[in-house]
Amino acid sequence: MTTLLVTGGAGFIGANLVRRVLAARPDWRVVNLDALTYAGNLERLSDVEDEPRYAFEKCDLSDREAVRAVFEKHPAIDAVAHLAAESHVDRSILEPAVFIRSNVLGTQNLLDVARERKIARFLQVSTDEVYGSLGPEGLFTETSPLAPNSPYSASKASADLLARAALHTFGLPVVVTRCSNNYGPWQFPEKLIPLMIANALDDKPLPVYGDGMQVRDWIHVDDHCDALLAVLERGKPGEVYNVGGDCQLPNLTVVRSLLRILGKGEQLIRYVNDRPGHDRRYAIDAGKIERELGFRPRRTFEQGLRETVDWYRAHAEWIARVRSGAYLDYYERQYGKRIPTRSAPPRGPS
Ligand code: NAD
Ligand code: TYD
Repeated sequence: MTTLLVTGGAGFIGANLVRRVLAARPDWRVVNLDALTYAGNLERLSDVEDEPRYAFEKCDLSDREAVRAVFEKHPAIDAVAHLAAESHVDRSILEPAVFIRSNVLGTQNLLDVARERKIARFLQVSTDEVYGSLGPEGLFTETSPLAPNSPYSASKASADLLARAALHTFGLPVVVTRCSNNYGPWQFPEKLIPLMIANALDDKPLPVYGDGMQVRDWIHVDDHCDALLAVLERGKPGEVYNVGGDCQLPNLTVVRSLLRILGKGEQLIRYVNDRPGHDRRYAIDAGKIERELGFRPRRTFEQGLRETVDWYRAHAEWIARVRSGAYLDYYERQYGKRIPTRSAPPRGPS
C-alpha cells in the first residue's frame, strides 16, 4: 500500500491527479496538502471528499514546521508528488516574491522533510518553461539548457535544481517531469484557454498579447496526470522526463478555435500590449518518456477543447464564484490599462 502526498491537490492539475490515483490505484491512500491560495479550491474534489482513502491537510509549504506536522500526522506517507506552486506567469511579473516563497522556499522545506522521513519517491512536477524560449525551429529535450525568462519559470527552475541537489547530496529518490501547457476542466480562468472561454461566454473582449503568434504545446490535463502516474511508479530516480501533447499551436489559432466552437465572432478579439519578456515558442520532444515508460498522450486537441468548452458552459456558477472578489482586482491590475481597442494585430513580431 502506497500513501501518496500530493501537494497542491486543490489546484487544477493536483485535483485531477488526486482523483486519478484514487480511481486507478484502489490500494493507495492520498493525502492532499494545500494552502488554499486564490488558486486552490476544494470544490474540485467534492466527489472524493468522503472517500476513506483520502485526507486533506491545509498547510503552507513555506512553514517548515507545519509541513513536518503533516508528515507526523500521516506517518505512512512514502511517496510525494509535488505540484503546489504559484503557477501564473502574469502574476509572477506583478509580484515575484510570492513565487520565491512558495516555489523555492516551499520546495526546499518539502525536500528537507521528505528526506528526514526517508520517502521512497519524490516527484518534482516541473514545466517546459524552465528551458526558456525557442526560435522557429527545434524542440526542448531533457538536456536542453535551463534558461528561464520569467519570475515564474525562474522559481520553477530553482525548485528543479534544489530537487536535483537533494538527490545528489542526500540520496533523496527524486524524479522530475517537465510538461507543456495543460488545459481541461477546473482550470482557473486566468490561464489562456479558460480565460478566453469565460470572457467569450460573457461576450467580453478576448485579450490577445502582442501579435498572438506565440506558440505553446497543448496537452489535456488527464494525459498529463497519466504521465505523472507512470513516472511516479516507473520513472528512474535522478532522471528528467519531458511531457508534451505533440500539439504546437499559435495562441491566435487556439483563440479562433474556441470562438468557432462557441459560435462567437472574431470581433471579440482585442490585441493588447504584450507580456514583458514573453517567451515566443515552447515545443517538447517527449520521445524519452515514450521510449522508456511507454507513455503517449491519448486525447486529441480538437476533442479535448470541445469537451472543455462544454465543461465551462455547464459550470458557469463555479466560474462566477471564482471570478469575484480578489479576481476582479487582479483582472483590473493585469488588463485594466492594457486593453486598447485594437482589433488588428500590431505589425511585425512583438
Ligand atoms: P494551480 O495554480 O491551479 O494550483 C496550485 C495549487 O498549489 C493551488 O491549489 C494552491 O493553493 C497551491 N499552493 C500554492 N502555493 C502553496 C504553498 N505555499 N503551500 C501549499 N500549497 C500551495 O496550478 P496547476 O496549473 O495545477 O499547476 C500545478 C503544478 O504543475 C505547478 O507546480 C506548475 O508549475 C506545474 N505545471 C503546470 C502546467 C500548466 O499548464 N498549468 C504545466 C506544467 C507544469
Ligand atoms: P498562459 O495560459 O498564461 O500560460 P504560459 O504563459 O505559462 O504559457 O498563456 C498561454 C499563452 O497565451 C502565452 O503565450 C500568453 C498568452 N495569453 C494571452 O495572449 N492573453 C491572455 O490573456 C493570457 C492569460 C495569455
